[in-house]
Amino acid sequence: MSGFLIEHYDLWRGLHILSVIAWMAGLLYLPRLFAYHTRAGQGSAVATDYFEQMERKLFHIIMNPAMVAAWLFGGILIYVDGAGRMGWAFLLLPAMIAKLTGVAFLTFWHHYLGRARKALLAGTSTRSEKYWRATNELPFLAAVIMVLCVTMGVK
Ligand code: HEM
Repeated sequence: MSGFLIEHYDLWRGLHILSVIAWMAGLLYLPRLFAYHTRAGQGSAVATDYFEQMERKLFHIIMNPAMVAAWLFGGILIYVDGAGRMGWAFLLLPAMIAKLTGVAFLTFWHHYLGRARKALLAGTSTRSEKYWRATNELPFLAAVIMVLCVTMGVK
């Protein structure tokens, strides 16, 4: 099993990047839908006919599986780097600590958006359209830091 994982490192790396792309797409798009949804009015006809369905599908069909896949393939990369290529001390490299801090933030943000989706559905959201527009770029900023950490700091 361990040999199989180590041998196919480049495959896991590719699948990791693909799942991260899908996860990021959802993290960037969902708050935009929240902004339009909030502007249309919670419980309005357009919200129930369109935004609630779009948000549910995006969250359950794209974002949840993509996050699980990013963690799964990222976890395999951690295992292969730790057990094979670099030794477990690589986890203590500043770039890796920064990268995993970014991962913790994105995972928190994912669940925060999940709770916000439920609040919009229940008509109890107190967040404004402006709030969703303003926070929309946070996952992208985290992604910039994380990608540069792995491309420049972890070899
Ligand atoms: C979800 C949890 C995640 C874990 C456990 C994880 C872990 C890892 C590990 C261990 C590596 C290999 C580092 C190396 O040896 O170079 C890696 C590579 C990478 N990760 Fe992640 N990662 C996660 C999420 C993310 C996210 C959210 C992004 C981007 C926003 C990202 C972007 C990348 C990139 C660009 C690479 C470089 C692939 C390459 O070697 O070319 N990862 N990840």
